[in-house]
Amino acid sequence: MRHLMSPLDFTTEELEQLFDLANDIEKNMKKYSHACDGKKLATCFYEPSTRTRLSFESAMLSLGGNVLGFSDANSSSAAKGESVSDTIRMISCYADICAMRHPKEGAPMVAATKSSIPVINAGDGGHQHPTQTLTDLLTIRSLKGRLNNFTIGLCGDLKFGRTVHSLINALSRYDNITFVFVSPEELKIPEYITDMLKEKNISYEEVISLEEVIGKLDLLYMTRVQRERFFNEEDYVRLKDFYILNKEKMDMAKPDMLVLHPLPRVNEISVEVDDDERAVYFKQVQYGVYVRMALILTLLEIDTDNL
Ligand code: CP
Repeated sequence: MRHLMSPLDFTTEELEQLFDLANDIEKNMKKYSHACDGKKLATCFYEPSTRTRLSFESAMLSLGGNVLGFSDANSSSAAKGESVSDTIRMISCYADICAMRHPKEGAPMVAATKSSIPVINAGDGGHQHPTQTLTDLLTIRSLKGRLNNFTIGLCGDLKFGRTVHSLINALSRYDNITFVFVSPEELKIPEYITDMLKEKNISYEEVISLEEVIGKLDLLYMTRVQRERFFNEEDYVRLKDFYILNKEKMDMAKPDMLVLHPLPRVNEISVEVDDDERAVYFKQVQYGVYVRMALILTLLEIDTDNL
């Protein structure tokens, strides 16, 4: 039995298979519509979510399975003090697979150690968000045809943004990737990540100005400032509108630079950018369903050759 805690849990070869499956699902949705008949997915969300929870539910329903779960810790027995370890023991009796989001780093990992069903980390604090990374990689691979030879800018809250941390980990395994980290001083990328890049001899730079670097990027990954991770509201208010991607800045970018964003967006991308064909953040959402369908099939070891 396999869990998914980090994008690195899959080899790059396994990721290729997963993305091939996701692309086949995209083209032949009907073929997979009974692949999970009789199976149940539990979504245990201790933190708010729109995309991740609903895309997991949509994915399981599209596979013919059923869903159960909670979307708020206060509506579960966590509010009475039940531990994640005990909760997953219950969930293992109710469902075949579980997607868990938790504000504490490592909570899904703790759950996995006590679980008798596959557990998927659907975001743990500021740590990792592997299924968002699978979504990002599938989007890039589908729209650009490759996962190597890119200069990628990551802009905004690089300190608390778990999607950024997961994506850097994942992309660091592909050839000729250059990272450009664009953030205010207070929201810089954590040192453990730059240490990892140095160790692997992967090129990166850290800058404050987006205008200074946007012209050399192949991909721009925008992120929101994570209000929920700040201890101090004043700091959040000071930093929340530090970057706003608008038409003027898009005019400085390459004609084929893709703009990605894990969403939700707050103010960091002006709505006028939505109509630019390089803005692919809403396409990303659709890829998120296909890749979660592929992931559920893979972790449940469903034989897709005979569908
Ligand atoms: N991208 C993402 O994780 O969105 P949600 O918080 O809405 O799930």
